[in-house]
Amino acid sequence: MIDFGHGVASGKIILMGEHSVVYGKPAIALPFKQAQISSKVFKTNDKITIDSFYHKGYLDDAPDTLYGIKQLIYIVLVYLKQPFHGIHIQIESSLPPQRGLGSSASVSIAIVRSLFDAFKVELSQERLNYFVDVAEQIHHVNPSGLDAITIAFGQAVFYQKDLGKTLIPLKMDAVIVVADTGKKGLTKEAVQEVKQLWTDNPTIVSPIMDRLEELTNEVRTYLETNEIIRLGLAMTEAHQLLRSIKVSDDLLEKLVEVSLLNGALGAKLTGGGKGGCMIALAQNEDQGIRIADALKNAGAVNTWLYDLKEIVL
Ligand code: MEV
Repeated sequence: MIDFGHGVASGKIILMGEHSVVYGKPAIALPFKQAQISSKVFKTNDKITIDSFYHKGYLDDAPDTLYGIKQLIYIVLVYLKQPFHGIHIQIESSLPPQRGLGSSASVSIAIVRSLFDAFKVELSQERLNYFVDVAEQIHHVNPSGLDAITIAFGQAVFYQKDLGKTLIPLKMDAVIVVADTGKKGLTKEAVQEVKQLWTDNPTIVSPIMDRLEELTNEVRTYLETNEIIRLGLAMTEAHQLLRSIKVSDDLLEKLVEVSLLNGALGAKLTGGGKGGCMIALAQNEDQGIRIADALKNAGAVNTWLYDLKEIVL
């Protein structure tokens, strides 16, 4: 079978501002192109079928947990004026799901791109954002929109819920090590727990969120002026703040500590937390490799190196 539509989308890492971004504070995120999701569309004579890491078989039979993706496919087909049959969608991914690396937004973006490609309809950035927002709303309850924006634009973004995004011109000469704990991070649950914690302890959580906002604003400047030491310190402080709102766990703590002991300039969890991934800041590739090896020895199931110079605006 030959595919007649193809779409690809990267993952994302959040450098600063996860959780606080849900409450309208700024965040900075980067596309994570080291791992990606691809969606291919084939012609069939059957109902819509899917072959993917999240479901194999008829789309109609996909479990309720995939409601967002199911709805997205139907909504896009309605927009493209196509019937609900005659296509097979094949999803391949090198992006581990539920690790805070944006796999849900990424799979949605890859699917939308592949369907528009299949039916030869031009896909504007606005239209893509709209569809992905719809899918994320269904999927995550109250997402900030950060994942979708970062992946859709494929650039470093400074993002604030009601103000939208600004693409950041990075001038940073550094390497980020991304490490996967191998444990599912449950973003939706983490977001709900933080909300509850804030409701129960407003005087404790409010200043934490305010400090995360300050740090994110500072980091934006550091990225534009190559202030690597300050960036590292801000990352580690952000991690401590995230830990104090209880979204870290034992392995994330261990990996942050091991990174710092092995010379990282800063380290923090990234994404929703409670499992998922962490990031560490290294001065160069050699140091990044040493930190990545130490993280694997300490229990990380996978690591990637991310050269910040590769992000060019
Ligand atoms: C999303 O990757 C991370 C959170 O900030 C939730 C959101 O932005 O919707 C925890």
